[in-house]
Order: sequence, then structure tokens, then C-alpha cells
Amino acid sequence: MQKLIINGGKRLRGEIKLQGSKNSSLPIMAGAVLCGGECVLNNCPELTDIYSASRILNHLGCKCRFSENTAVINSADINVTEIPEKLMREMRSSIIFMGAVLGRTGECIVSMPGGCELGSRPIDMHISAMRKMGIDVKESHGKIICHAPSGKAHGAKISLPFPSVGATENIILCAVTADGETIINNSAREPEISDLCGFLRACGAEISGDGESRIVIKGKNKLHGCDYRIMPDRIAGATYLAMTACTGGEIILTDACVSETEPFISVLEQTGCTITTYDNRIYLRSGSRLKAVRDRIRTMPHPGFPTDAQAVLMSALVTADGVSVFEENIFDCRYRHTDALVKMGADIQVLGKIAVIKGVSRLHGAEIQATDLRGGASMVNAALSAEGTSEISGIHHIDRGYEKIENVVRLLGGDIRRV
Ligand code: UD1
Repeated sequence: MQKLIINGGKRLRGEIKLQGSKNSSLPIMAGAVLCGGECVLNNCPELTDIYSASRILNHLGCKCRFSENTAVINSADINVTEIPEKLMREMRSSIIFMGAVLGRTGECIVSMPGGCELGSRPIDMHISAMRKMGIDVKESHGKIICHAPSGKAHGAKISLPFPSVGATENIILCAVTADGETIINNSAREPEISDLCGFLRACGAEISGDGESRIVIKGKNKLHGCDYRIMPDRIAGATYLAMTACTGGEIILTDACVSETEPFISVLEQTGCTITTYDNRIYLRSGSRLKAVRDRIRTMPHPGFPTDAQAVLMSALVTADGVSVFEENIFDCRYRHTDALVKMGADIQVLGKIAVIKGVSRLHGAEIQATDLRGGASMVNAALSAEGTSEISGIHHIDRGYEKIENVVRLLGGDIRRV
């Protein structure tokens, strides 16, 4: 099992180009199933989750090659419609292949994705939406067996009880080649949904309203392949900004998505960092000690503060001057990183969805274990700001979402190695 060894206490300083978005790449790779031709996806990050998506595509009969941040997917032949449990369990977003395979073939068999990382992650909204679109869904021996009795899904009016990102993506993927019009009310507005829609439009789909809470999709008989560039990863961007802030450093992020990162930037600015943006660049300079964030930080669907940035911001606030309060409203088990931060000397009290952080003057290095992707990244940040050496295990979680994190940290002058 690999580990990251970090000697903390160095001010990070430098310029880095941001990686492409994981959360865009995954549904877009699933979307390639619908095209029946060749899709070339540029700016695709090299991550274990992306390799898992490639394995699913190859299993279905598509040909997927990946090199130098470009995925080339040919979906001319699909000869399998069942995704085995082993592949489904490699990552939670495997569930978005359900809509894509249904859209292409009118049938699919999947199983429940992944285990419990952020608390229970049901897929009831995905399933009830598929049923509304004329899909017969049965659950048997852990398998979810779906088929369209008429051979094809049909359009429907779907009102989501909560703007779920994954359910919105699954509905879009199933609807773009369905018969008739689909309307999604209370759809998720995350930028990655717009990126998926941008890709599907480049393949010939007719979609409007993405980025807002009512998406309208007019089903097309056929889509075609395309060349598409994946958007930058706003959560990796938030991570590197918070990482630099907690070491008192300075960073220029290039190839960043400025307006999409705004909900995070506007909170990070309250810590006293100077942040300026121009074109697709974000510049941050941090002072000697950060200030606590006065207003409660509530995670919300986009354009609210992103739940995926909660842990990485917390790693900066544990040494800020004063008390900061988080309210986690999206997932019910998303404070698992706090034990490691406390082991490093942080003062954090968690009660249900609330975490109260009293800033301490410094952290110290410790042996800690990543518990999930963003929690693991928050431990890297904390270790970089701490005095002494930290050893982080469980880094397969981090590798799911950060492309060569140790190279990025070294570029910024951090002392980190993978052993
Ligand atoms: C996506 C992101 C993840 C991010 C999350 C919220 C990807 C690959 N992952 O996850 O990084 O943290 O959005 O921004 O894009 N829910 C239900 N029933 C459902 C579906 C969801 O109860 O059928 C609940 C979930 O348990 C959770 C909430 O809705 O509490 C939000 O989940 P959702 O927006 O679906 O997140 P994901 O798509 O899984």
C-alpha cells in the first residue's frame, strides 16, 4: 500500500495548470456510448476513476484508448448490456452508465454502485425517473434489471425532489435518444451538467436550459461522434487554492474555471487572502495567518458552497484565527477527515451536520489515513501546513480525483514523496 510522506511548514509558491474535471469526464465518457462513432475527449485527467470508466466501456464492447490526457472512445459496437458488480463497485459514478446504456440499447443490468463512503447514497431518484420514461425496472438478487418494453425510452416530465447531480445526468443520458420531449424540473445546476450537455450537443443532441433548474431535452434518433475538451476541475482548483492559503503561500492557477469556482472563492476571500481572477487564471496570495470565516459555511447545491470543497477549506481554517462553523447539508457522513485533523492538533467539534472549528496556532505532523477522496486531500493540505513529518496512508482515495498530486505539490515547492 502506497503512502505520502510530507514534511510540512514550507510556504507553497508557484504556477500550475489545472487538471481537467473528473466529475465532467465520467458522465461524458458514459455519454460516448450513445454516439455510435468515435469521440475524442481532450483534457481528460489521468485518474483511477477514469480508468474504471474505461474498463466499463471496453466491457460493453466499445473501444476506449487513453493516453496523454486524451480518451478516444469508439462505440460503434455495443454487444453487452450488463455491467458486472465488480466493475460497478469500483466507483460510485458507474451508475450513470445506466442511462447511457438504456438510451443506446433500451436495456441494461447494473448493480448498486460502491459502498458507504459519505453515508448512504441511494439511487431512488434515478430509478423512479427511468420508470417515468417507460423503463421497466426490477431489482433481483442485488441486480437492477432495466428494459424498455417498447424497445426505447420515451420522454417524460420529471420533477426531482432534490437537485441530484447523478440523477440529472442519468435522465439526460437516457433522454437524448428517447422518443419525444423530456423536461427535468429542479434539475441540478452544477457546471459539470452543462459540460455534459455541451458534449452531447456536439454529438447532435438537442438540449436547452442546462445551468438552470429546468432542462428540456428533445429526443433524437441518432447521435454522432465529436471532439470535445473537458472543462477544468473546479474542486481540484479549490483544493490547490486552500492548500496554498494554509501554508501562507502564493499561487497562480492557469486553465481554471473562474466563474464556476466563485462560490468557493467568495468564502476563501473572507480568510483575508487576496484573490484576483483574469481570463482563466486565479491568483491567490495569503498573509501570515488566515482569519476564521465569520458566517456559517453551508454546503448547498450549485451555486451554493460545494460539499466537495468542505474538507479542503476546513484544512485551512483549523489554523485560522477565530471560530468557523460548517453546516454539511448534502451528505450525512462527510466529516470523517476530522479525526485525522484532530490527531494533528486541530480543535474540531462535530455534532450531526455541524462542525465547529476553533483555530489553533499550529498543527503537528502525524500518521493518518485518508478516509475518502476530498477528506484525503484535506489531510495533504493539513500536513503541508503542519510542523514536522506526516505519513498519509489510504492514498488510493486521493488518486481517484487528483492527477499526480505529489508532482503538483513539488512544483509549488512542497516537500512530499510517495513511497
Ligand atoms: C455528485 C458528485 C460528487 C458531489 C455530489 C454533490 C460526481 C461523480 N460526483 O455525486 O462529487 O459531492 O454530486 O455535489 O459527479 N440522493 C438520494 N437519492 C438519489 C440520488 C441522490 O437520496 O437517487 C441524495 C444523496 O444521497 C445525497 C444527495 O442526494 O445526499 C446529493 O447526491 P447527488 O447530487 O446525486 O450526488 P452524486 O451525483 O452522487
